[in-house]
Amino acid sequence: MFYSISMYLQSLSLLNFKNIAEAEMIFSPRINCFVGNNGVGKTNLLDAIHYLCLCKSYFNPIDTQNIRHDQEFAMIQGVFSMKDREDEIMCSIHHNRNKVFKRNKKEYERLAQHIGLYPVVMISPEDSALIMEGSEERRKFLNSVISQYDKGYLEDMIQYNKLLAQRNKVLKDFGSTRRFDEEMLAVYDEQMVPAAARIYNQRIDFTNRMIPIFQHYYHRIAPDKEMVDLHYQSQLLDHDFGLLLKDSRDKDLAMQYTTQGIHKDDLILRLNGHALKKTGSQGQQKTFLVTLKLAQFDFIKEMNKAKPILLLDDVFDKFDESRVRQIIRLVSGDHFGQIFISHTDESKMQSILEDMATDFRLFHVTNGSISD
Ligand SMILES: Nc1ncnc2c1ncn2[C@@H]1O[C@H](COP(=O)(O)OP(=O)(O)O)[C@@H](O)[C@H]1O
Ligand SMILES: [Mg+2]
Repeated sequence: MFYSISMYLQSLSLLNFKNIAEAEMIFSPRINCFVGNNGVGKTNLLDAIHYLCLCKSYFNPIDTQNIRHDQEFAMIQGVFSMKDREDEIMCSIHHNRNKVFKRNKKEYERLAQHIGLYPVVMISPEDSALIMEGSEERRKFLNSVISQYDKGYLEDMIQYNKLLAQRNKVLKDFGSTRRFDEEMLAVYDEQMVPAAARIYNQRIDFTNRMIPIFQHYYHRIAPDKEMVDLHYQSQLLDHDFGLLLKDSRDKDLAMQYTTQGIHKDDLILRLNGHALKKTGSQGQQKTFLVTLKLAQFDFIKEMNKAKPILLLDDVFDKFDESRVRQIIRLVSGDHFGQIFISHTDESKMQSILEDMATDFRLFHVTNGSISD
């Protein structure tokens, strides 16, 4: 299979992004490592790259909180080396204004045009929310992965959420006025059904194709043969969504929101047939998450025919050194592309990377400033 290996981030300039006042970096096409003490800005650097690729922070959904305290605006600028060209991406975030994204000096009409051009996968300690938190986290995961390779999916999600909000407003208004526009509700229902069906099909398709890749990786990292599995849970599995909406109308009116639909679906993570949250040890949960993300990497790579950028944030905090080596060896192989790693222990990182015979650059981060 042919993959374009040439998408990588050549350089990055930051201005007032979180705690980083100003920084300029030139990267290796292979492994880049940010080292430094806790709280100096390593994760923020990875997040700036995530922001540049997907128009949002991996951690903070409130855009303006990514602007350095007491500053007017933040800027992220990067040059991506592509197969046959260079793309300069410029992003600015202001208070009280929409963020602006430009490619080669031309502003996008819609941010959705940017998503998927520079695929990226982040692996972070905060991923544990995928296991510990409610279904919303897992739907966010599905949405974020699928929209990196399927533009139609993102459009469908935007459309569905808009209709859902309008439908919920009708239901809520009924709570205060005891009256509702039956025809209006029927119109929303009618438009939601096809969008929901497409979203559902994409999520099922994604999950089914992920399972074997995921299991393959799990068994490469975990020493013993534990059984791991993913299962997409949805009412749409054995119900017609149009009928579901009709049948639940009285309940919806009573609850004042839409109780059925793909906004309630879940991705069940299982270990040896049981919910991972209940049965997995910390080590097993961590391995599960890293594996899920590596499978996500493979999946996006296959769909986009390009290797995503891989961001590894502090993944090594709970793994012992031998597993760290195993994972770095895995990701430094040709199967992967450009990698960014953050780590507190410089000498350990240096020694691991020197053993790998892969091109790498080390960046020292101290209180929001960066040096080679
Ligand atoms: N908008 C912001 N303005 C200034 N500092 C910020 C902002 N957002 C986060 N920080 C600071 O960034 C630091 C954390 O950086 P981080 O990248 O998480 O460190 P680490 O090197 O441990 O990964 C914290 O001290 C936090 O207060
Ligand atoms: Mg960090």
